[in-house]
Amino acid sequence: MAASKEPWGKTVLVEFEDGIAWVYFNRPEKRNAMSIELNREMRATIEYLATDDRCRVLVLSGKGEAFAAGMDLQDYFRATDNEPDTTLLQVRRETEEWQWRWLRMYPKATIAMINGYAFGGAFAPLAACDLAIAAEEAKIGLSEINWGIIPGGNASKAMVDMCGMRNTLYYAMTGEPFSGAKAAEMGLVNEAVPLSRLKARTRELAKTLMEKNDTTLRGVKVTVKRIAEMDWDTSADYLYAKISEAIHFGGANNRKGAMKAFLDDKKFRPGLQNYSDKGVSTLKEQGAKAAKKSAKKGAKKAAKKTAKKPAKKAAKAARK
Ligand code: COA
Repeated sequence: MAASKEPWGKTVLVEFEDGIAWVYFNRPEKRNAMSIELNREMRATIEYLATDDRCRVLVLSGKGEAFAAGMDLQDYFRATDNEPDTTLLQVRRETEEWQWRWLRMYPKATIAMINGYAFGGAFAPLAACDLAIAAEEAKIGLSEINWGIIPGGNASKAMVDMCGMRNTLYYAMTGEPFSGAKAAEMGLVNEAVPLSRLKARTRELAKTLMEKNDTTLRGVKVTVKRIAEMDWDTSADYLYAKISEAIHFGGANNRKGAMKAFLDDKKFRPGLQNYSDKGVSTLKEQGAKAAKKSAKKGAKKAAKKTAKKPAKKAAKAARK
């Protein structure tokens, strides 16, 4: 449990709910543009929550209409234009520290919940979060070209890592905004849902993560991100070292119990279920669910067609 005074409350808001820390950018009147003050507060908040037991999954989102309309053009850019370069570097460092240095390898699972506008500077924290869900209606973009700069603050890096070269070049060069649905199609977020379902779906995903062993979950997210930049030999060695570390750190009982449940008790199928000290739970099957939905749709369409046929025939006969 973190001990010092909670550092949020002005430009950042935190709400706790059963292991989830909902962390909000809280300048809705400025569409959550990230000011120097907000970056400092967010940095302290993220640091604080790393050791706060009320936070097992951190969800990053925005109050009001925006996730975040990028960096504050007045406070972050114009107001620092004539400052000494040491001040400028300090401001940048404070931003980077929370936006991706800290957040990318954060010791807890993180989800970005994109509730609305997300531009420019919003891309680094969006991509630094482990998972992301967007409202279909969200408007997202690398808008920097529209006001004459190159998308910095690792915004372009965030997009090219997630969405590939063609998509990034297209959106960075045209400055066109795209929807949450398009973001899902390009891999910038995991999925898009209607805004009305966004919080419920995010909560559901956070709950799934909280059924896992915290130590192992941390190991999974960190290793996946690190090995993306390694060759196969280094990756294999590193992964075995991290497996040992996770067992040493607190994953041992989970592994032992799950092995017993599968190999001895025959009560658990790891491919389809999750094992935790609370018991065995069945995993949601994305593929099966989608197939079922499309089969249902197909059946409905076929039924409609069959129902229409006699009516059409009758109408034809009547015309004759
Ligand atoms: N920096 C500073 N202020 C910002 C801001 C930003 N990035 N984004 C919005 N604001 C401020 C506006 O100046 C305005 O302030 P005011 O009420 O004191 O005049 C307020 O937020 C509301 O913005 P407004 O443009 O009136 O809202 P809107 O709902 O019509 O449009 C956006 C919302 C996000 C489309 C629009 O504000 C915008 O394009 N923002 C800049 C986005 C961007 O390019 N970000 C990249 C920065 S790296």
